[in-house]
Amino acid sequence: MSRHSETVRRLAAPDIRARKGGDPVVCLTAYTAPMAEILDPHCDLLLVGDSLGMVVHGMPNTVGVTLEMMILHGQAVMRGAQRAMVVVDMPFGSYESSPEQAFANASRVLKETGAQAVKVEAGPTVAPTVAFLVERGVPVMSHVGLLPQAVNIDGKFKAKGRTPEERKRIIDDARASDRAGAFAIVVEGVDESLANEITLAVKAPTIGIGASPACDGQILVVDDLLGLFDWTPKFVRRYADLKSVIGEAAQSYAQDVRSRRFPAAAETYALGGGKARRPRIAGGENQG
Ligand code: KIV
Repeated sequence: MSRHSETVRRLAAPDIRARKGGDPVVCLTAYTAPMAEILDPHCDLLLVGDSLGMVVHGMPNTVGVTLEMMILHGQAVMRGAQRAMVVVDMPFGSYESSPEQAFANASRVLKETGAQAVKVEAGPTVAPTVAFLVERGVPVMSHVGLLPQAVNIDGKFKAKGRTPEERKRIIDDARASDRAGAFAIVVEGVDESLANEITLAVKAPTIGIGASPACDGQILVVDDLLGLFDWTPKFVRRYADLKSVIGEAAQSYAQDVRSRRFPAAAETYALGGGKARRPRIAGGENQG
């Protein structure tokens, strides 16, 4: 992996917070070191999202993701990224029962990964936890609207803010996170008027996912943007079709191995200066 020799200053929570109402904050998820290295020059913030349970580990949702998984992937992303702020998601069950539980787990994440902040899904009861963490030196990004960790309540992922009561609750959640000191607020799966209302109501920059251009920044799951799945939500724009590219590469490789066109002499060690020779194949003719 290539590394720049000069030291690059990494963006931190105050840099992201200062972007409120300014240049849009560019965020993507990342789960591995090589991907983080590719994304780093283009992004202000990389989120080690618990979406990794679905896109990397093949889980049906994010509920089964563990703190250990988040720490492992957080360490990998920190090795790949130099300039972007790195935020690690707190997985389901690691922060909800008490502020003390949240601090014990969040401090582990910061110590063991070197990331700059954690993210929590901020339902109505979570604001005191955000304040508890921020007061103790843990920068927090909160997440309102569609809360993927609550998927079992609705039975599926669905856009939020369909009733006046739900809209009010989401705005209240965002305001409470803001007052508690969250440096940024992810807003997921809401319509433009609600995203706009939230963005105007809070001091922290809002980072939208399926939440219109009204937000102060945008985030997507990187695998969605790269076209690694057949199905992508309405709000995703696919910038590449890597699923086809990878499938075609694997097919060409398989054909070359089966027809013995791979490996060729150029891809074969000839130690001691000798010429690489094809082994004899029992019952067959050597090709090439
Ligand atoms: O887990 C995740 O990737 C997220 C983003 C979708 C914001 O929370």
